[in-house]
Amino acid sequence: MGFYTFFLLLSLLQAPLFYLSATSDDTLEQGSSLSVEKPNNVLVSPNGVFSAGFSLVGENAFCFAISFMKSSVPTIVWMANRDQPVNGIGSKFSLLRNGNLVLLDAGRINLWSTETTSPVSVYLQLHDNGNLVLYNIRNESLWESFDSPTDTLLAEQKITKDASLLSSKSHTNYSSGYYTFYFDNDNVLRLLYQGPDPQISSVYWPEPNEPSFRAGRTTYNNSKTAMFNSTGYFQSSDDLVFSASDCGVVLYRRLTLDPDGNLRFYSFDEKNKLWIVTWQAFSQPCRIHGICGPNSLCKYDHALGRRCSCLPGFKMKSNLDWSYGCEPVGFNYNSLVNNIQESGFVHLTNTEFYGYDKEYFQNYSLQRCQDECLKSSSHCQAIQFIYWTDTGYYDCYIKTQLLNGHQPYFQGDAYVRLPKSVFSSIENPMKELRLECPQDSNPSLLNRTYEKEGQNRFLKFLLWFAVSLGGVEFTCISLVFCFLFWNRLEDIDKDKQGYMLAATTRFQKFSYDELKKATRGFHEEIGRGAGGIVYKGILPDHRVAAIKRLINDGHGGEAHEFHTEMSTIGRLNHMNLIEMWGYCAEGKHRLLVYEYMENGSLASKLADSNALDWEKRFGIALGTAKGLAYLHEECLEWVLHCDIKPQNILLDSNYHAKVADFGLSKLQNREMPNNSSFSRIRGTRGYMAPEWVYNLPITSKVDVYGYGIVALEIITGKKPTGSQFSESGRMTENHGRLVKWVKEKMVGADSSQTNWIEEIADSRMGGKFDKAKLEILVKVALQCVEEDKEARPTMHQVVEMLQCHEEEKIFDTPKVPDPSCESGLLYFDNTEILLDV
Ligand SMILES: *[C@@H]1O[C@H](CO)[C@@H](O)[C@H](O)[C@H]1NC(C)=O
Ligand SMILES: *[C@@H]1O[C@H](CO)[C@@H](O)[C@H](O)[C@H]1NC(C)=O
Ligand SMILES: *[C@@H]1O[C@H](CO)[C@@H](O)[C@H](O)[C@H]1NC(C)=O
Ligand SMILES: *[C@@H]1O[C@H](CO)[C@@H](O)[C@H](O)[C@H]1NC(C)=O
Ligand SMILES: *[C@@H]1O[C@H](CO)[C@@H](O)[C@H](O)[C@H]1NC(C)=O
Ligand SMILES: *[C@@H]1O[C@H](CO)[C@@H](O)[C@H](O)[C@H]1NC(C)=O
Repeated sequence: MGFYTFFLLLSLLQAPLFYLSATSDDTLEQGSSLSVEKPNNVLVSPNGVFSAGFSLVGENAFCFAISFMKSSVPTIVWMANRDQPVNGIGSKFSLLRNGNLVLLDAGRINLWSTETTSPVSVYLQLHDNGNLVLYNIRNESLWESFDSPTDTLLAEQKITKDASLLSSKSHTNYSSGYYTFYFDNDNVLRLLYQGPDPQISSVYWPEPNEPSFRAGRTTYNNSKTAMFNSTGYFQSSDDLVFSASDCGVVLYRRLTLDPDGNLRFYSFDEKNKLWIVTWQAFSQPCRIHGICGPNSLCKYDHALGRRCSCLPGFKMKSNLDWSYGCEPVGFNYNSLVNNIQESGFVHLTNTEFYGYDKEYFQNYSLQRCQDECLKSSSHCQAIQFIYWTDTGYYDCYIKTQLLNGHQPYFQGDAYVRLPKSVFSSIENPMKELRLECPQDSNPSLLNRTYEKEGQNRFLKFLLWFAVSLGGVEFTCISLVFCFLFWNRLEDIDKDKQGYMLAATTRFQKFSYDELKKATRGFHEEIGRGAGGIVYKGILPDHRVAAIKRLINDGHGGEAHEFHTEMSTIGRLNHMNLIEMWGYCAEGKHRLLVYEYMENGSLASKLADSNALDWEKRFGIALGTAKGLAYLHEECLEWVLHCDIKPQNILLDSNYHAKVADFGLSKLQNREMPNNSSFSRIRGTRGYMAPEWVYNLPITSKVDVYGYGIVALEIITGKKPTGSQFSESGRMTENHGRLVKWVKEKMVGADSSQTNWIEEIADSRMGGKFDKAKLEILVKVALQCVEEDKEARPTMHQVVEMLQCHEEEKIFDTPKVPDPSCESGLLYFDNTEILLDV
């Protein structure tokens, strides 16, 4: 009986105290509250898209948040108290009579407020755009949630001097994380990493070693504002502009600084109720600072995602969070400093530790560089040893801290100093750990004590009542103050970086005069393509470049559009893509600056009677596939090449293949395959997929088709439209005749097993080739040229199929079929060929 009386009394007594409660409505009136205990106590925008109310963030822990309600799981776009959740009992969000908007924990502790006052009456309203605004009766805004973003920006919401984005700790923990998107004191919009160790902070975007004007930014506009509009066009006062790949059509977008430090633009896919990435600042996540913490290495590939591992001799500091990095096992660098005999070096190829170069020596041998490290008085922990093709010698850098370590997209090596005693215990290969979500799926219980003083008469009465009835226990919980180690942006570590990076995007804007001078007045022509003429040139910093002068057919577009497009392409960075060093957009001139490739194009090498040997051919086929896989998948499948042919596959001095001319066919938007910008057929006869002819949607599979033809050409040395085949005339609509010819040889030779391979292989190889590998390449190529685009593999699958075969050779293992390899290979069936021909 006692309990029921108690609760009955409680609820009766509650009524006058808890003011009026607003229910599903877009407006909160003065003097009313939203209660954490009532799930339907929320504000809903008139269009029903956004809601403002309490969100559960942990066991009995709530934050007041604005959420986007149309996604399958509501998306939090703003939070009042991300670092100090409130109790699930008694907490309220109240608009006080004096005009102050407050968040009260358990009804009493003021955790957050807008600190507004108003002599006239006020009301709080949630708008259709997600903005929560406090108005007075004259409709003047006193406070807006748009002015204090957390990690997300909505359309028309501004980043300003005082409003920056701060990432969340993880996808499940909304408290303040390690990354900030903000206006720096010099008016430039940047990304900053500030790790759990408050000593470590660094700007990582735009490229910190470059003057900001190289990234197309200006420091001269003091207005410090940036926002994107609903079309998907982001514009900042420092001249940064970018647009979503689905610019125009989408209803809801957000720009979020994700917990991994990558800034991503998302569009809402109404059909699947999902957010889709339509732009991101980094396509190589390992270049984001701090991602694996100190003394570790970050590796990324599309198949496995991002992985962190500790350096040899180190172990993880916190199993829950890579941000803390790794610590030495049983040694410290202090004791090594005066003990040269005890030190050795572990060689890590293609590895960079960004930053913290204490000293720098030009033209040093490895031995001299290591000696410098050993005798250095600063705590040398490693050396960075880099060969520069432009100078022709090695440079040596002494590292005093090992941060931002990444592999393998770096053209230089690192040698990590370790005590010799540690060498024997080093595991080889290094143990890699997949980056797990930190284990905060079981959030901690809110642990708070509430002050005893200030209890109002009602509570005293309740206590008395409870005690007198007996059986009700009140637990005191201790109040934990969370101190945020978030240092404001003023003290960014402006540590001087010792060197310019070879492999990071050194993307820059050139003047027309600079390029004219570099090419000696467009003197030496090295190639001609649909888009323009290519000249050889030497840049002011002595790099040899291929400079493409675009024919002015409106291709260039407006200078700022051209800039946006070029900076997206310039960010694509892969060893099998031609590196774009910069561009020029001045008046009518549109020029592109690429690295120069010594061995010209695959087309010229295939035409050469001094033919490529099999090793080179297979390497080129694999490299090309990797380059395309990167374009299609790692970069969100928004870059279609649309003109894969041997003329666009270039070869460096070591015959490594690099795909050229990508991205010029306008950045493709994968959500709109029928994009009108693709209405015009592009490509080259013989390499064009049937989709073009039948006016079907254009997807990345058109490049797969082109690749298949190129692969057949590499094998046979025959052109797809060549006159070597019996019939003559136009290319058949559906299938190139090269494909038909290869299939006929295969089927015809069915009985005599592998003889067909010798028949199709380019006779100029003189029969010197690996039969098994060639057979794989033929099979993969034929899958690629399937008429039905769904039957073609993705470029990523192509790489896997070719690579699986590679690895068998490298490790010289007996041929045990690797199940993971088999799964990728769609087996070729002879009956299918018969049907197809
Ligand atoms: C304030 O805005 C509301 C709704 O937008 C409108 O109905 C009201 O007339 C406005 N009041 C004044 C004083 O402008
Ligand atoms: C967004 O900005 C772009 C570029 O200035 C402009 O073309 C477009 O019309 C704008 N969209 C809206 C909805 O204002
Ligand atoms: C500065 O940037 C703002 C916002 O983008 C723009 O409106 C303004 O014209 C710029 N000022 C100058 C001097 O370029
Ligand atoms: C680099 O060092 C080597 C050996 O010390 C020397 O012979 C060579 O001239 C140096 N090259 C340059 C460009 O300084
Ligand atoms: C989120 O992370 C912070 C800092 O690591 C931690 O103190 C807090 O308990 C976490 N919150 C939840 C709900 O797990
Ligand atoms: C909660 O607070 C109590 C008392 O201060 C303490 O003993 C306990 O360890 C805390 N629990 C957690 C999970 O922090």
